[in-house]
Amino acid sequence: MPREYINLFYLLASVCFIIGLKLLSHPRTAVRGNLLGALGMLIAIVVTLLDRRIVSYEVIIAGLVIGALIGAIMAYKAPMTAMPQVVAIFNGFGGGASALAVGAALEEALKGGFIEEIDIVFTVSAAASGLIGGISLTGSGVAFAKLQGLIEERPILLPGRHAINLALLIVCIALSAWLIVNPVFSLPYWLMVIVASVLGILLVIPIGGADMPVVISLLNAYSGIAAAGHGWVLNNSVLIISGSLVGSAGFILTALMCKAMNRSLANVMFAGVGTIVATESESDSIYAGRVKSASPEEVAMLLEGARKVIIVPGYGMAVAQAQYPIKDLTDLLESRGIEVEFAIHPVAGRMPGHMNVLLAEVDIPYDKLKEMDEINPEFKETDVVLVIGANDVVNPLARNSSDPSNPIAGMPILNVDEARSVVVIKRSLAPGFAGIPNPLFAADNCLMLFSDAKKAIMDLANALKS
Ligand code: TAP
Repeated sequence: MPREYINLFYLLASVCFIIGLKLLSHPRTAVRGNLLGALGMLIAIVVTLLDRRIVSYEVIIAGLVIGALIGAIMAYKAPMTAMPQVVAIFNGFGGGASALAVGAALEEALKGGFIEEIDIVFTVSAAASGLIGGISLTGSGVAFAKLQGLIEERPILLPGRHAINLALLIVCIALSAWLIVNPVFSLPYWLMVIVASVLGILLVIPIGGADMPVVISLLNAYSGIAAAGHGWVLNNSVLIISGSLVGSAGFILTALMCKAMNRSLANVMFAGVGTIVATESESDSIYAGRVKSASPEEVAMLLEGARKVIIVPGYGMAVAQAQYPIKDLTDLLESRGIEVEFAIHPVAGRMPGHMNVLLAEVDIPYDKLKEMDEINPEFKETDVVLVIGANDVVNPLARNSSDPSNPIAGMPILNVDEARSVVVIKRSLAPGFAGIPNPLFAADNCLMLFSDAKKAIMDLANALKS
């Protein structure tokens, strides 16, 4: 196929990716966006197969069939709650594939194969792709293992880790410089990929499980950059464009999550948040003698007298899979003329959009889900707020504390304490991810319903019915 046609098809594929991304930004158009992105990928693959000097179609077809099978099985089998680790492992494979394919292109070019010239663009892009691809391969592997429970989820803080990481980075840069200045053999490249892979493991091991979504998003951005570097090596425009799109989308999502937690990326990457857990005496000084617990029947009576109820879901709702009874409870309350809305904190749960996905799964209408800035002014006029398995995202300490050792100081929260009554459903007074006590539980207008979230909501619905 002539070069101009190929570039035209690559342009078409890139347009599909860009419009697909735009459509993905709204739940109503997301499925269409996904399909359009997949169509763009199909066009890019088919055209590439017609373009390049293919050595063996058999191997490629075998790879496509096996890859598509594994992808389809994983997509069907993985539960929604396992999405972060699925994304992590796919990222890792993307980064690893770029590092390997760039290495193969380098070997080919050194042999004087289909790439005519090894210029500065080639070597710099190859070095960047190998470095970032190696880090994202093993870093994503560790993220996957942490989220899947294969290794310890809490931060593992090795002594002298910053110095070791810095030393490994310097070795990578030195090997890259060697490749760029003297591109006559591939050894520096492969050595650099190995060192970068070790660096990937050491960079992610000290990060706590709940911070993994931020890390995965960052590694996603890395795998995009590795792919863009690969595109420069092969002079392939669609790879450059799609890699840059993945890279920039990943960086934007990372920045949004950090902003929602009021934490810097450096704090997420290096501070080891998730190691501190409140001591008993710290918790006692806040809770002792002030916490009031209630039964489902008492909470049902409170709900019966309400005109407006706001539900605040958190990580515990996901763990308990309480979204199904929550849908039933919502229908029941609405059938009695009570207005029900949902308040969604941007980092509630353990992945971006976690709560939205679970509530959409049970057909809670999208217009009932209100973002933090939109719902916060409404709490003052709300009769009852039901906090279901959420903790840090409603902790007033975030607002009040100027203590820099408080991991959530300055994090914007849902102002549930401004409502007339708050009911918190969780199993105990245990802290959330940040490991600190929550003065909301001891507030005058707060009742605790100690139970598993799913059971509590079912009991509540039964009490309302009877
Ligand atoms: P958390 O503060 O982690 O609190 C969750 C609460 O759920 C726990 O206190 C736990 O208390 C309760 N729980 C657990 N299992 C339960 C069950 N079966 N039934 C009822 N309750 C249960 O959750 P959150 O408020 O959603 O905040 C999210 C945290 O993760 C924030 O600190 C955020 O910064 C962090 N984080 C989130 C993200 C994203 S993207 N979402 C990314 C990085 C970090 P009991 O054990 O007493 O039941």
